[in-house]
Amino acid sequence: MHTHLAEVGSTNDWLLAHAADLPDGWWVRADRQTAGRGRRGRVWHDGAGNLMASVLVKAEGPVQQFSFVAAVALRGAIAEACGVETRLKWPNDLLFDGAKVSGILLERAGDALVVGIGVNVGWAPDDLERPAVAVGGSVEVLFAALARHFALWRGRWAMEGFAPVRAAWLAAAQGIGGRIEVRLGHETLTGIFEGLGDDGALLLRMGDGRVRPVHAGEVFALGG
Ligand code: BTN
Repeated sequence: MHTHLAEVGSTNDWLLAHAADLPDGWWVRADRQTAGRGRRGRVWHDGAGNLMASVLVKAEGPVQQFSFVAAVALRGAIAEACGVETRLKWPNDLLFDGAKVSGILLERAGDALVVGIGVNVGWAPDDLERPAVAVGGSVEVLFAALARHFALWRGRWAMEGFAPVRAAWLAAAQGIGGRIEVRLGHETLTGIFEGLGDDGALLLRMGDGRVRPVHAGEVFALGG
């Protein structure tokens, strides 16, 4: 149930272009991307032996929850295949020792959703501003584990809803219960990271006691 390409611009773009002709659950994986994309308009750099893959989701319901389905599945797959326990950074980064191991990019194609996953397996970009690290291991083994964990979590989501996904995500969330800073364009909010809303919003308890849902932004000053 997957296509393996030696080189592509972006696995997300490839799947977006083929979404109408492919079944639900189809994966595409590439050894190299020449135009890999990250969140917030960033470029996603890859190196030899990294994992670049995207999966097609044709599901009904609150599909934005898939960014958390993907994160918990990927966390399990990295633990199993690479022996590395990662922490999850809202909304959908995986960290090891505070450095980025993986990113997830969700995009819509009509009714379908494309979930793109990049993992630094054999190589990580050298970026002082955004430290990154490679988890090591075999990309083939990791991809097989990811496809399996994703199908399992997806099935759980379909049967039981968001609750088990949220619980697994929160159990590994970086900074949960602690004081964080969220940068939203020109505004910076400070508060206590209380949880995750049904729509995937970060729930931030402000100084005045109210809980503010944050839908987009970047989290800083995370505690352990
Ligand atoms: C991020 O953290 O900014 C998200 C990075 C997502 C990268 C993956 S690699 C496979 C897929 N194809 C892309 O062009 N991007 C995603």
